Amino acid sequence: MCNALDGARSVTRIDPERQVDLIVREAREDDAAAVLGVLNPIIESEAVAFDAPLTEADERSYLASFPSRGVFQIALRRHDELLVGFQSLEPFATYTSLFDHVGVLGTYVDASCRRQRVASRLFAATFTAARAKGYEKLFTYIREDNPAALAAYAGQGFRVVGRAERHLKVGGRYLAEVIVERFL
Ligand SMILES: CC(C)(COP(=O)(O)OP(=O)(O)OC[C@H]1O[C@@H](n2cnc3c(N)ncnc32)[C@H](O)[C@@H]1OP(=O)(O)O)[C@@H](O)C(=O)NCCC(=O)NCCS
Repeated sequence: MCNALDGARSVTRIDPERQVDLIVREAREDDAAAVLGVLNPIIESEAVAFDAPLTEADERSYLASFPSRGVFQIALRRHDELLVGFQSLEPFATYTSLFDHVGVLGTYVDASCRRQRVASRLFAATFTAARAKGYEKLFTYIREDNPAALAAYAGQGFRVVGRAERHLKVGGRYLAEVIVERFL
């Protein structure tokens, strides 16, 4: 897909000047299959909080019912519009208005396009869209065994505000979730 530069678990610094030329835009329901083209391989082999691949019907229905206050940005490689990454932001809670200023993020970039600023471009687009929708704070949970995500979020100004111990059970092994937040 892109030039293979890095695996998600590596913490080796690799040419930061390399960037893939991108179009970043809001997702539509029709993007479901392309989103899964990135997400399902990550679910199958990386340190994320899913346990099974999603179907296109699942993803279509998720996108169709995506909250109006949510932000779902996708990154397309410019020359062929292949989807190489996406980022979703959803309200922290909807049963009360007291969390309306807080959004929860998820960020996923195809393994072959890592360390080429795809996530960085998505963060920039999401921050802008989130401010426009009234968010003041972004929040997420990252698995303790996911150094790439911890580094990527730290690089965007997220700070660690907590650690939920034994929060995931992966193949019988407990793992913590690291809680990070950033004010917009
Ligand atoms: C985390 C993830 C989204 C980062 O995407 P990316 O497009 O590679 O990130 P960027 O190229 O924008 O990286 C920006 C900075 O983040 C940090 N970073 C990203 N990946 C890193 C890694 N593997 N090791 C160390 N630092 C890393 C670096 O500071 C990097 O800047 P640099 O390349 O100039 O050193 C990607 O690794 C991914 O999709 N992982 C699997 C899904 C996942 O874990 N998502 C998080 C759950 S919410």
